[in-house]
Amino acid sequence: MGVISGGVLLATSPWFSVFSEQKNTVGSLARIGVIGPGSRGQFLMSFLTKNPKVEIVAVCDVYQPSIDSALKIAPKAKVYNDYRRLLEDKKIDAVVIATPLDKHYQIAMDAFDAGKHVFCEKSIAYSLEETYKIYQKYLTSNRVFFVGQQRLFDPRYIHAVEKVHSGEFGEINGIRTFWHRNNDWRRPVPSGKLDEQINWRLYKAHSKGIMTELACHQLQIGTWAMRQIPDKVMGHGAITYWKEKREVYDNVSCIFMFDNGVKMNYDSVLSNKFYGLEEQILCSKGTVEPEKNKYYFEEIPPAPAFLQLINDVENAMFGSMPFAGTSWVPETANKNTGHYLLDKKPEGDGTSLLLEAFAEAIITQKQPELIAEEGYYATALSLLGHQAMEEERMLDFPDMYKLNYLNHKSIEVAI
Ligand SMILES: NC(=O)c1ccc[n+]([C@@H]2O[C@H](COP(=O)([O-])OP(=O)(O)OC[C@H]3O[C@@H](n4cnc5c(N)ncnc54)[C@H](O)[C@@H]3O)[C@@H](O)[C@H]2O)c1
Repeated sequence: MGVISGGVLLATSPWFSVFSEQKNTVGSLARIGVIGPGSRGQFLMSFLTKNPKVEIVAVCDVYQPSIDSALKIAPKAKVYNDYRRLLEDKKIDAVVIATPLDKHYQIAMDAFDAGKHVFCEKSIAYSLEETYKIYQKYLTSNRVFFVGQQRLFDPRYIHAVEKVHSGEFGEINGIRTFWHRNNDWRRPVPSGKLDEQINWRLYKAHSKGIMTELACHQLQIGTWAMRQIPDKVMGHGAITYWKEKREVYDNVSCIFMFDNGVKMNYDSVLSNKFYGLEEQILCSKGTVEPEKNKYYFEEIPPAPAFLQLINDVENAMFGSMPFAGTSWVPETANKNTGHYLLDKKPEGDGTSLLLEAFAEAIITQKQPELIAEEGYYATALSLLGHQAMEEERMLDFPDMYKLNYLNHKSIEVAI
């Protein structure tokens, strides 16, 4: 468990209970099949192969270059081209699903039906209805269900949320999440015919773009910190810069509203990377920026009026020099450099630990608490945000898709 062993508060991250039998499972094996070993799938495999408790029994892909690369990581893996044949393989306990978003639903449903444990990359599915059905299938399957939300296992995020929950920063009054990049997200293709297959993220039939690819990681931090699920969302999306052969937005802004009036913003612009990505948790006594590994208290003494005057002159705020110093301090962002959450920035981002947790859960056949629900709501909010932008209206979180979790109460509806 590395960096955070022993330091984790199970109250904040109850899914860490998965490691409680870690010593007893030495010598046991989780036998995994990887479906869709493309870019992410291979990244996951690179961690799985390092875990002595894991054997990658098989890989399945419909694209030969992905198979070729996957076999370099797991040369002994059996190769399948049809995931349904892989699911028939009795040597396989569990599957990792890392295909494009629109393929997750059928594969996950079939995997549970075949009695496999499931790790599904985020976002869980292409629609709220599919996401809900997968969750319900998991509930009746007696199998474990993980989602690729690695921040749940990232020590920076765990410490940040622990500190927020401890009340050290006062009340949460706002959450600003954003992920800005400056590239078109397009991958090179060997032939134009393969563009939709390889650049599936840019096509509406396969993806919901920024929301399902990026936002789901960040919205989950907001709800984890708040211990609440927002009930309303509105937003606007557009294609403003990368117009070439692209169907999904490259510029989005959403506001998620909690019932106590707190708002969580989500912004992403794919043509400017200056501010990068962050989840800023704005509390009455401090601010937390987990991605930067930092927190800041509010009570930094205001700059003396004399320094303020120099600053104002340097910034050409006044046409001519005033006789007296300013008697006010503008609320521009201050120079508070803050404190580090962790003395040393961890090397990974939680992915390795998330996969170790999956292997433990497969072996013990025990679902860690709340991990599926965190994944469910991360996907649900991303999809709802996307829908609000598409329909250009404010949406309520639909009762029929609420789970019995946090402020949402389960309502049994057959769909
Ligand atoms: N957790 C994270 O931080 C993270 C990061 C990147 C991607 N992802 C997720 O991982 C998933 C895959 O993303 P990617 O960038 O690796 O995409 P990718 O296109 O690189 O890989 C997808 C692979 O699935 C294969 N595939 C398509 N249909 C298939 C089918 N029916 N059966 C078997 N294989 C099939 C493709 O040929 C390809 O090799 C997405 O859901 C994405 O959101 C998660």
